[in-house]
Amino acid sequence: MGVDDSIKQRMLARIHDRSAVVGVIGLGYVGLPLAVEFGKAGFHVIGYDVSERVTKLLMSGKSHIQDVPAADVAALVRSGMFEATTDESRLHDADALSIAVPTPLSKTRDPDMSYVIAAAQTATRQAHPGLLVVLESTTYPGTTREVLLPALTERGLTVGEDVFVAFSPERVDPGNPVYSTKNTPKVVGGITEACTELATALYDTCIDQTVPVSSPEAAELVKLLENTFRSVNIAMVNEMAIVCDKLGVDVWEVIDAAATKPFGFMKFTPGPGIGGHCIPLDPHYLAWKMRTLNYKTRFIDLASEINSQMPNYVVEKVALALNEQRKAVNGSKILVLGVAYKRDIDDIRESPALDVIRLLEEHGATVSFHDPFIPTIREDGHSRTGVDLTPELLAGLDAVVIVTDHRSVDYQLVMDNAQLIVDSRNVTSGLVRTKARVVTLASSRPSVGEHEPSPAHS
Ligand SMILES: NC(=O)c1ccc[n+]([C@@H]2O[C@H](COP(=O)([O-])OP(=O)(O)OC[C@H]3O[C@@H](n4cnc5c(N)ncnc54)[C@H](O)[C@@H]3O)[C@@H](O)[C@H]2O)c1
Repeated sequence: MGVDDSIKQRMLARIHDRSAVVGVIGLGYVGLPLAVEFGKAGFHVIGYDVSERVTKLLMSGKSHIQDVPAADVAALVRSGMFEATTDESRLHDADALSIAVPTPLSKTRDPDMSYVIAAAQTATRQAHPGLLVVLESTTYPGTTREVLLPALTERGLTVGEDVFVAFSPERVDPGNPVYSTKNTPKVVGGITEACTELATALYDTCIDQTVPVSSPEAAELVKLLENTFRSVNIAMVNEMAIVCDKLGVDVWEVIDAAATKPFGFMKFTPGPGIGGHCIPLDPHYLAWKMRTLNYKTRFIDLASEINSQMPNYVVEKVALALNEQRKAVNGSKILVLGVAYKRDIDDIRESPALDVIRLLEEHGATVSFHDPFIPTIREDGHSRTGVDLTPELLAGLDAVVIVTDHRSVDYQLVMDNAQLIVDSRNVTSGLVRTKARVVTLASSRPSVGEHEPSPAHS
């Protein structure tokens, strides 16, 4: 006797005619863009978040996520196609749920699964026959099967027949002007074939391309492979910057020349360290899982070690450059330029700039910051406000440390007025050399009229 697939067929029909209601649990960087795409595809969308601040803001037609225009949210709210709520019982009306809650690390750098467990419990409390649940949060392989599935089936629902469970990693790249949620291919792996089929059908309505894989574990690992790949390659070029410094070679010249090879090389650039919610954290989910299987993931550990040392390396560069001018870090006035974790975004989570500021202050510097995207930094109950970038401010500083290379900053203004620039992103390379002495991660460039100093500081 074959499996009764009438529930699946009904659900497929509801997806195709858009009468299915879609719920999104967690309305942050990942959940909100996804909710908006479902809304634009013609579904009624219920966004559930534990933060009343977030839901109220969205219901007033505003957006707290830079890449999601407020006009899109406002239009969906006005048309009645999108509601944001802190009332989880509203999810009972949903035919499909996408979970996009945080997956941070604990203080001991182990996975903190508390948000995923809470979201799984929410989904379970509101579950009914026919429900499709897709986990989007980045996590270790096995989470969908070991955490989400048992919660949903403990109430007697049978997976693949009357409840459908899948993992589909979110690949959103905040601030990317080309690739958004809609045009980034989406990998989907269900517990059963029916789960994959339903989840793929749902995402096919609003994402340009879906990529089905054979299991949730494969889909979970796809995301971890992608971000481990980035972490390892960034660490490799960071180490290359240190190597080039010791050899007196310009690392950026080497990388740009290597990147002319039309095959077999992918360009990564060195920097002050890694930040954000993904690359510094995700590989540790895999490392943790492998530790439980008595296997040490050496690439992940080494990449993490190198990348997490980069803020120290930047501060060492500042100290050496000040020393050449017979100055100490202690007592110097230093501006950190750019504090977001990467260019052109307003996200400061895990930003290496926070480490650079902390280390400079530990060495006695007076530190200010400027970031066009981040007026104020709030950390551990303290807040500090950024300063305006003016010729007078720059002239009164001992050093400027460029940590994030936002495109809208006038770097020529900095070059024309500052005494010393430590440029961790090579953003000053194309500028007219005027007043400032410039030190990059891997060599120093003379200002006008100055002789090339010894490139190797150490
Ligand atoms: N930010 C990115 O660029 C990015 C990219 C790809 C994947 N991811 C992954 O996506 C997941 C979500 O990340 P994010 O950046 O969107 O996080 P976020 O912090 O921006 O948003 C998460 C939202 O979930 C809400 N929330 C927390 N617990 C909840 C619960 N139990 N029920 C309902 N809502 C809850 C929070 O209030 C918040 O609004 C993480 O696993 C992350 O690793 C993030």
